[in-house]
Amino acid sequence: MGSGQNVAVFGAYGHTGRFVVAELRERGYVPLLLGRDQDKLLALAQAQPGLEARQVSVDDPASLDRALNGAAAVINCAGPFATTAAPLVEAALRAGIPYVDVAAEIEANVDTFAHFAERARAAGTVVLPAMAFYGGLGDLLVTTAMGDWTAADEAHIAYGLSSWHPTTGTLASGVVSGQRRGGRRVRYTGGRLEYHDDALPTLEWSFPAPLGPQSVIGEFTMADVVTVPSHLAVPEVRTYMTAKAAADLSSPDPLAPAAVDERGRSAQTFVVDVIVRSGGAERRVSAAGQDIYAISAPLAVEAVDRILTGRTRTTGVVSAGAVFDAPDFLRALSSHLSLHVPVDTRG
Ligand SMILES: NC(=O)c1ccc[n+]([C@@H]2O[C@H](COP(=O)([O-])OP(=O)(O)OC[C@H]3O[C@@H](n4cnc5c(N)ncnc54)[C@H](OP(=O)(O)O)[C@@H]3O)[C@@H](O)[C@H]2O)c1
Repeated sequence: MGSGQNVAVFGAYGHTGRFVVAELRERGYVPLLLGRDQDKLLALAQAQPGLEARQVSVDDPASLDRALNGAAAVINCAGPFATTAAPLVEAALRAGIPYVDVAAEIEANVDTFAHFAERARAAGTVVLPAMAFYGGLGDLLVTTAMGDWTAADEAHIAYGLSSWHPTTGTLASGVVSGQRRGGRRVRYTGGRLEYHDDALPTLEWSFPAPLGPQSVIGEFTMADVVTVPSHLAVPEVRTYMTAKAAADLSSPDPLAPAAVDERGRSAQTFVVDVIVRSGGAERRVSAAGQDIYAISAPLAVEAVDRILTGRTRTTGVVSAGAVFDAPDFLRALSSHLSLHVPVDTRG
């Protein structure tokens, strides 16, 4: 359990931020509620009595320094991260505290690795981008599937979502990423990101029962193409999305997530199915759960807990699989995630 330490949550009143605030409280941490809109902050503080709200602007470094005063770590839930990540990482480095974000923006995640690697390492601190459903979970699963392999020919991460009702932040991040790519698509092949205009293939993926075979969109590229190759020698990293969820996301009038339980989770279910191949051998692991936004909270908070209790393997800008004991991390989330490791695929 947390130690009563303060953990700052930037974007605390957003959809994901609220899950993170609740998860921190459940685990004995004291969230500091950070955001740019005073009215929304006050409304959240009223709903969360006893918590301190601090208004900040990413354009005002002094406001960020004040907001992080007394925080043991910061979790950035405010996207688009193309705007928020760099100022928050800078502030975390000035404060000498770990930084964790939930960014699913490939280019923003690349920037975090590129711009802050040396300074984070020199400071001996952890900067952990994409510590959420996309990016973080896939990397933990690939790292777990790899086992004692240090390299593989390819890694495949298939997202079996029952639906995808996106938040405003997801849609805004998608627009920003699309603009940064000049409308082009991106994939990870030959050990690097490649921008292209090819049509995305539709194929069938056999998810573990009970989901079974599903139509998926191939090269539906997610943040795992940044996190996985950041520490594993895998030249081909491919991600796939159920066609139904991809259609939900690109709908001209997408539905927002609707809460169906007391935690605020939606009815959305997911299976993340990972296959890694090396030579003729194949290894596979999958995880199932409910609500991709809600699951991001235990992922981010478990990460913060491990960092603050010294259960880390390295410092600098890192991904989850590099800094944590991946199988142990996933086991710790057993109340949120059902893991499936088929015995017959251990090569
Ligand atoms: N990797 C993953 O799997 C994963 C999981 C969950 C979320 N995410 C990402 O996290 C981000 C937030 O998602 P969400 O579901 O929480 O969306 P949301 O409910 O729309 O919340 C977005 C939050 O970000 C804040 N924000 C946006 N730009 C800001 C800025 N420049 N300065 C300060 N605050 C800013 C918003 O504040 P205002 O209301 O004041 O605009 C709001 O609090 C999105 O980028 C999403 O893609 C990724």
